[in-house]
Amino acid sequence: RTKFEVLDVEFNVRYSRNPINAIHTRLKSNQSILEKMQRRRIPFSLENLETRIQDVAGVRVICSYVDDIYRLSEALLRQDDVKLIAQKDYIQQPKPNGYRSLHLIVRVPVFFADQRRDLPVEVQIRTIAMDFWASLEHRIRYKNDSPEVQRLAEELKECADIIARTDVKMQELRERISANLS
Ligand code: GTP
Ligand code: MG
Repeated sequence: RTKFEVLDVEFNVRYSRNPINAIHTRLKSNQSILEKMQRRRIPFSLENLETRIQDVAGVRVICSYVDDIYRLSEALLRQDDVKLIAQKDYIQQPKPNGYRSLHLIVRVPVFFADQRRDLPVEVQIRTIAMDFWASLEHRIRYKNDSPEVQRLAEELKECADIIARTDVKMQELRERISANLS
């Protein structure tokens, strides 16, 4: 959170606007951790938890514009205490259901009383519109495959595509508005 807050202030100084609309952080509950390990048939041990579950700590960064997503991710990954473990670009390659977001798994140092450990964090960066969509879609994510749920899924997919076009258009309009005002 602090790293993104600092980037937000710096962007504001440089471009006179804030790229970040909101930052949400969460720690996975013990119960969700156990459920995920059971689902993936990973025997429970601290070692397996540390090596195989990389989303115990999660940060979600909500931006207004798509280009800010990539600016923030590049600025984060340039920091020498941030190690990229995996990246999934669901904006360039949306999921079949229409889900879009940039996902990064990074390791960052955490300082304990007697040691420093690099711990994984799942970072999701998305636009306000993508976040709006994902929060509604999430409610049918684990639902049965009834004809009604299939219809809902199809209509959500249509909304995802409209949202993606709108995100691109808003960015273009922002550029034209800045060009006119300067
Ligand atoms: P998980 O087992 O869910 O952690 O998925 P994964 O390890 O395959 O990683 P992935 O990057 O696909 O998804 C990680 C997280 O992104 C999920 O826990 C959700 O928060 C979010 N996410 C991924 N796909 C979807 C989706 O189709 N819809 C919604 N609403 N959220 C999604
Ligand atoms: Mg997850």
